[in-house]
Amino acid sequence: MTEAWRPDGEDEQQRRGASGPVKVRVPAKVNLHLGVGPLRRDGYHELNTVYHAISIHDELTARRGDTLTLTMEGEGAGELALDDSNLVIRAAHALAGYAGVLPHARLHLRKQIPLAGGLAGGSADAAAALVACDALWGTGLSRDELAGIAADLGSDVPFLIHGGTALGTGRGEAVSPVLARPTSWHWVVAIADGGLSTPAAYRELDRLRAAGAATAPLGSTDGLLAALRQRDPRVLAAALGNDLQDAALAMRPSLTATLKAGEAAGALAGIVSGSGPTCVFLAVDDADAGRIAAELEAVRVCRQARVAHGPVAGARIV
Ligand code: C5P
Repeated sequence: MTEAWRPDGEDEQQRRGASGPVKVRVPAKVNLHLGVGPLRRDGYHELNTVYHAISIHDELTARRGDTLTLTMEGEGAGELALDDSNLVIRAAHALAGYAGVLPHARLHLRKQIPLAGGLAGGSADAAAALVACDALWGTGLSRDELAGIAADLGSDVPFLIHGGTALGTGRGEAVSPVLARPTSWHWVVAIADGGLSTPAAYRELDRLRAAGAATAPLGSTDGLLAALRQRDPRVLAAALGNDLQDAALAMRPSLTATLKAGEAAGALAGIVSGSGPTCVFLAVDDADAGRIAAELEAVRVCRQARVAHGPVAGARIV
C-alpha cells in the first residue's frame, strides 16, 4: 500500500515536481450557440451553450522559483495587470491551496488571444496555469479535479481544460463533450480594436430584454447539435446563434459593418463571439477562410483577421 503524500515544504515539493520548464498551450473559444436564460440570484445567467475550441493559442511556461511571479509578452502586454488580480496568479494560488503545496513558480505568458475579446483569453490562461502548475509541482490532479478548481475561477475555465466541442450548462461551468465524428470547421476570426466588458454585455442584454428590444432567446442547443452531426458547413452556418450579439452590437455599433463585410466577402455566416467584440465567420474550407480574412483586412473593418480551425484540444503540455 502506498502511503498518502503529505507535503512537508519546499524540499518535498522539489522532489515531486518537474525539474525543467513546463510549457502549456491553450486555445481560444467561440460559442457556436450561446443561449442566455434569466438572471439568477447569484448574479449569473443560466446558459445553454455549445463551446468550440479554435486554433488561436496562448502559451504559458512554468519554471521553478522561490516565489510566484508572472511576466508576459504579446497581446495585451503592458495593459494587463500581472498582480494578484490576474487570473493566472489566482489559478496558481487556487491549485496550491487545493493541493496543499507552496505556490512557488516563475510563470511566463505568450499571448495571441486578445484581451476582453469574447474569446475567453483570460479563462484560457487560467486553465493553462492549472495544467502547468499541476505538472511543475507534481500534484497529479485528474482533469476533472482541475476542472472543479477551474469553475471557481470563471465560467469558461472548465471548458478550456477540456477543449474540443462541448455543451455548457449552469452558468457555463458544467461541461460535457459533444461526441461527433471528427470534422474540422474553418473560421475567420475578426479581432477588433479594444475589448468589451463581459458583465456589461450581460447587463445590456437584460436592459434590452426588459425594454422588449432584444431578439427572441435562442433556447435549446438541439438544432445546433443536429447541425454539427451533419458535417456540412452550410447547415452549421444556419444554426449558429448568440443571444449576447444584440448587446454587443448595441455597445459597439460598428460591429454591424464587420458582420456585413464578412458575409459580403463570402462567409457562410458571421456571429459575434461570446460577449464580443471579436466576430467569427464560418468558411467552406481553409482557402476560402484565407480569402475572406484578406478581404476583411482590405476593407478595414477589424484590427486583424485570422484564419483558425476547430475543434482543437484544451490546455495541454507541449
Ligand atoms: O464567470 P466569469 O467570471 O467569466 O463571469 C464574468 C461575469 O460575466 C460575471 O460576473 C457575470 O456578470 C457575467 N456572467 C453572467 N452569466 C454567466 C457568466 C457570466 O451573467 N453565465
